Amino acid sequence: MTFRQTIQLGVNIDHIATVRQVRQTVEPDPVWAAVLAELGGADGITVHLREDRRHIQDRDVKILRETVRCKLNLEMACTESIVQFACETVPNQATLVPEKRQEITTEGGLDVAGQFAAVQTVVKRLQDRGIGVSLFLDPDLPQIEAGIKSGCEAIEIHTGTYANVPFESEAAENELRRIHQAAEMINAAGVHLHAGHGLTYRNVLPIAAIPQMRELNIGHSIIARSLLTGLTEAVREMKRLISH
Ligand code: PXP
Repeated sequence: MTFRQTIQLGVNIDHIATVRQVRQTVEPDPVWAAVLAELGGADGITVHLREDRRHIQDRDVKILRETVRCKLNLEMACTESIVQFACETVPNQATLVPEKRQEITTEGGLDVAGQFAAVQTVVKRLQDRGIGVSLFLDPDLPQIEAGIKSGCEAIEIHTGTYANVPFESEAAENELRRIHQAAEMINAAGVHLHAGHGLTYRNVLPIAAIPQMRELNIGHSIIARSLLTGLTEAVREMKRLISH
């Protein structure tokens, strides 16, 4: 009998904090959003504490550490202050990502091959605190090879390129082939296989179908949908309130 493990869904709630920060106010609180995501069946809550603190704040991660009952996954750059913060906060998992101040969202995977010693040191420091480490990498075999060598528990394949070309186009098929090759290398090394970035209700299935896929991290599409599915009721509530 073949047994297919279920894929864990990590819900990235950064956008909730973005809406709060636009007004520099207290709502919506990503801590509330995490509870709702968990009630909906999220297996993980993912947040990116960026160096510029443009959305998620230190306070959010600290409270989430106390309140999230499923896996808390902290996306982070390899910088000293964030590594120290992670070592103090101890999320269940840290996902190492590249970070540029000018970017709108994470662009591309971490260059682990180009800064191997530095990344390996961070991987070890986090693991010594009992934090599982995932590396966010492009489906580029030299990068995957270096990632495996770093001793990390998981590699999250960056699916942004796949997501940015038209669905089911030749370009998407080519990128899927690259993702499959990377996945095979990761699986063969016994490293956990994750994927994320740009995944939507439309393009997720070919990625979810990759053998041994363990975790998908999805943010924008889920938060965008929740705004639309929740908007009608939110307007109804305000109408009820003002008409009494
Ligand atoms: N995985 C990683 C490493 C990311 O940086 C992000 C975006 O923060 C995601 C997954 C989620 O991407 P999206 O919001 O496009 O679903």
